Amino acid sequence: MPKPLLLLLLITLLQLSLSASLTNPGDIAALKSFKSSITPSTILPSSCISTWDFSFDPCSSPKTTHFICGLTCSPDSTRVISITLDSVGYSGTLTPLISQLTHLLTLDLGQNSFHGPIPNSLSSLSLLQTLSLRYNSFFGPLPSSITTLTNLIDLDLSGNFLTGPLPTTLSSLTKLTRLDLSFNRFSGELPKLPPNLLELAIKANSLSGSISKVSFSDLTRLETVELSSNSFTGVLPNWFFQLPSLQQVNLANNSLTGVDIAKPDRKYNNLIAVDLGYNKIQGYVPVNFSDYPALASLSLRYNRLRGPIPLKYSKKGTLRRLFLDGNYLSGTPPVGFFYRGGDAVAGSFGDNCLRGCPRSSPLCLPSQKPMAVCKQAYAGKLSTSFD
Ligand SMILES: *[C@@H]1O[C@H](CO)[C@@H](O)[C@H](O)[C@H]1NC(C)=O
Ligand SMILES: *[C@@H]1O[C@H](CO)[C@@H](O)[C@H](O)[C@H]1NC(C)=O
Repeated sequence: MPKPLLLLLLITLLQLSLSASLTNPGDIAALKSFKSSITPSTILPSSCISTWDFSFDPCSSPKTTHFICGLTCSPDSTRVISITLDSVGYSGTLTPLISQLTHLLTLDLGQNSFHGPIPNSLSSLSLLQTLSLRYNSFFGPLPSSITTLTNLIDLDLSGNFLTGPLPTTLSSLTKLTRLDLSFNRFSGELPKLPPNLLELAIKANSLSGSISKVSFSDLTRLETVELSSNSFTGVLPNWFFQLPSLQQVNLANNSLTGVDIAKPDRKYNNLIAVDLGYNKIQGYVPVNFSDYPALASLSLRYNRLRGPIPLKYSKKGTLRRLFLDGNYLSGTPPVGFFYRGGDAVAGSFGDNCLRGCPRSSPLCLPSQKPMAVCKQAYAGKLSTSFD
């Protein structure tokens, strides 16, 4: 053989061995099944999945023409470690064979149109740290086997049509710091929650029952609670605002009937914003909120509160937003609110039974309830204050 030809042969052999399939065959089979479960007409030419051409090796690099995006492989190019799809409206189901991608750390199919159930077999992805199926059309229950994924740090299933109760074993997700199940149709009571959560969001579902200590015990790192627009009932107990890292609480639009709030434990002072609007809270405006040193925003609007606006609220320098409208508050609002200059509070005292709320102040809008409504609410007991 002439020397140049031999060289050419050698080079060709070398290239062949370099481009030989490196990716684990089980991973390739799973990726093929993943792609074929997506409706072809929803795979746009400019999308990531359209570059998934299985006549090439998925993990071979550099990725210039095929498998350009949507997946990441391990440094040795043998295993798929992440699937992060572009949000271009892929429709289809999630293949149960996804369970073969056992080295997956991230699965993010957010903001597409995947539908059908969440496969039980996801529980085989034992290394998974991030699972986001947010804003798709998954329906059916959340398989309780998901709670065996004990490496999960971030679980986001918001914006789907998931139903049924939350798994009672949710608290076994001991590394979970963020849980977002908002905008689904989950029902039943809150189970015991994962102990290391920083952020809990289950807004706009159909959860019911009370806010119980069983659910929240040990959640010493919890900063954000977003549970608005559910059907929680009962009195919010006084241990709740004592959760040591709590910063923001939204329990608006439920059916809570009361708030028990003690003065804060001196060591802890992180509470910044509380929204308890649109509930059925009775009794007096809880004055102890004014002892939370960082509190900047408080809404108790549209409840069934009565009695005066606490004087201490008007002296609370950190307060920037205060919504007390839509209750049956009586008496005269503390004048301190109207002379705070640069410290002015935004919000509303309107739609109550207050007297002498200066019309020049935006706080006094909208106007107060008709006298007859207030007299009826107080059943004549305080009638002289309205004459
Ligand atoms: C209250 O929650 C219901 C569903 O739970 C929702 O339909 C409604 O829009 C919510 N209202 C407000 C004011 O958020
Ligand atoms: C305010 O908190 C104290 C204890 O910190 C408690 O004894 C008191 O009852 C609370 N006040 C109200 C009105 O709940």
